Amino acid sequence: MEKQDDLKRIAELRRVIEYHNKRYYQQDAPEISDTGYDLLMRELQNLEERCPEAYSPSSPTQRVGAAPLSKFASFNHPSPMFSLANAFTHEEIIEFDKRIKRLAGVNAISYVAEPKLDGLAVNLIYENGIFRQGATRGDGTTGEDVTRNLKTIATLPLKMKSTAHHPAPSFIEIRGEVYIEKEPFQKLNIRRTEEGEEPFANPRNAAAGSLRQLDSRITARRPLNIFFYGVGNVEALGVSTHWEALQKLSDWGFPVNQLIERAEDISACIQYFERVRNMREKLPYEIDGVVLKVNDLTLQKTLGNVSRNPRWAMACKFPAAQETTIVKNIDVQVGRMGTLTPVAIMEPVNVGGVMVSRATLHNEDEVLKKDVRVGDTVVIQRAGDVIPEVVKVIPEKRPETAAPFKMPVHCPECGSEIVRLEGEAAHRCINISCPAQLKEHIRHFASRGAMDIEGLGEKVSAQLFDARLIADPADIYFLTKEQLVALDRQAEKSAGNLIDAITKSKNPALDKFIYALGIRHVGERNAKILADHFGSLETLMKAQREDLTVINEIGPEIAASIVGFFHEHKNIDVMNKFGMAGVIPQKKAVNQSAPLLGKSFVFTGTMESMGRSEAKTMVENLGGTIHSGVTKKTTYVVAGSDPGSKLDKARSAGIKIISEEEFLKLISR
Ligand code: IVH
Repeated sequence: MEKQDDLKRIAELRRVIEYHNKRYYQQDAPEISDTGYDLLMRELQNLEERCPEAYSPSSPTQRVGAAPLSKFASFNHPSPMFSLANAFTHEEIIEFDKRIKRLAGVNAISYVAEPKLDGLAVNLIYENGIFRQGATRGDGTTGEDVTRNLKTIATLPLKMKSTAHHPAPSFIEIRGEVYIEKEPFQKLNIRRTEEGEEPFANPRNAAAGSLRQLDSRITARRPLNIFFYGVGNVEALGVSTHWEALQKLSDWGFPVNQLIERAEDISACIQYFERVRNMREKLPYEIDGVVLKVNDLTLQKTLGNVSRNPRWAMACKFPAAQETTIVKNIDVQVGRMGTLTPVAIMEPVNVGGVMVSRATLHNEDEVLKKDVRVGDTVVIQRAGDVIPEVVKVIPEKRPETAAPFKMPVHCPECGSEIVRLEGEAAHRCINISCPAQLKEHIRHFASRGAMDIEGLGEKVSAQLFDARLIADPADIYFLTKEQLVALDRQAEKSAGNLIDAITKSKNPALDKFIYALGIRHVGERNAKILADHFGSLETLMKAQREDLTVINEIGPEIAASIVGFFHEHKNIDVMNKFGMAGVIPQKKAVNQSAPLLGKSFVFTGTMESMGRSEAKTMVENLGGTIHSGVTKKTTYVVAGSDPGSKLDKARSAGIKIISEEEFLKLISR
């Protein structure tokens, strides 16, 4: 009897909690306090634990997250996830329409115009109306299974609202964009800064970082949201237009963006583009353009794809958002390699939805070229996730007293001499024990794209360094919880979390580890190339210059830097310490999965089927690179009609020359 009561109460609680979720998340009108809500949730969790037979993948308790995973499983998308080609001007948008008309042999095309949300794409599998599995886009074929994290997103339906009129299909792949709104993003960053963690650069990074958390309880605390804009296996819908598909998604309870419209022709699309562009700042979430999609699904199918991009859709990007503000100061920061970087500290200003108060000025030449001075009014811009930059000074607004910028002659951190090497733009502090450099080095090692040690941001790294608990990145692995607790601001719990995060990072992907080492000229991209090529740290460490320069992207300067790094005694010591601490990067099978990996292309002449930027995206998506001039390392020269002198150069250098047709074959293999 008691069991019956429990089951009844479970059903009731689920209903009540869903109701309050809706009031809170969708209608922005909560009826009960957070504590009241927590009590209901806890009661439901307890009951579900007592009655495992009542388990349901769509219970609201599924949204609160579960114990951490050690890594994400990979997920093969049943239908591939494509990306979009970009247009930047009205002309390019018109060109897109013309191309479609030509290919389809018709003279009228209608479109659906949508905002291009700046988040990350996900693919969700629903079976008979129940959310089963969801994954990130990854390379379009294989992503990461982030089901548990997706379940924490309050606006993501765990169960479709199917009706007799709109029954749920037995299997459907629904596509959408996970994002964070501007305001919750600011709050999240304030909280992180207070907790001594790195703030996220922008809402998209925050969304991606949150969705890729191994601990879904952390994800559950992040203000993630989702909009849906497509279906992988669109046949499952039984509709004939994209517009109807979106309608159906909306009827099933999937949040579909309100700004999506039908556009009868390309001029309506351009009007839409301008209208949405003017609304951009006022929207609660970030967008970086609009997406145009051919409405007719049969026509979409006929048009098909070129490489990874559908011919029936186009991303029309907004030009960078600009604002003016005043330079309050020009700080000089010391980086990991001792490089001195002037940074403009400005009156905070909202640029395209993000508050900006700092912008890098790169080096002395750049400051002098733009002639940025303290007190100047400047135009700054931010394009997509690009770091804010100073575009120009407004000379009329310069105060009379403003003096030209001068680089300091002594390191602002350690007082050592500053030098500028021949042929280099950068000034450097040459003291290799400069604390600013060492701190930066450690911060870089632990950062997101590197070892990703959560909780070891700028502040904590500096704190540990100043307390002399660490002097190099390997020391991190010898820290104890007691040492951390003894530091101020490190409470028992966060110390424990940090130790866990450190332990979790002991078996990193090889490319992340190589990148984390902070070898000069080895950024994320080169680290990946090295990992793919050498497969293990040991092989890389033994590599001679020649072993490195045979790799297409690795030039003599990079090779010298890598060989130099692994020969330096101090670095060898650090590498040994990593070994002793049990930090072992994963080995990689040296498989060249990206078909154009290591191949470089040069284009000359005009191509019939696509523009340069399209070709570039395609080559890069398949792992290849594009260069403007022919060199010994060029793999292919693609000759269109009216080729230029590059063709002669390729002939005399004996480089393989291919036609547009051969190129298309190469990329569609
Ligand atoms: S459609 C084949 N619609 O843009 C169509 N994508 O470069 C593929 N995105 O990976 C996507 N808003 O992350 C589509 N309304 C929208 C979108 C959108 C943002 C993102 C998505 C995708 C990327 C394509």
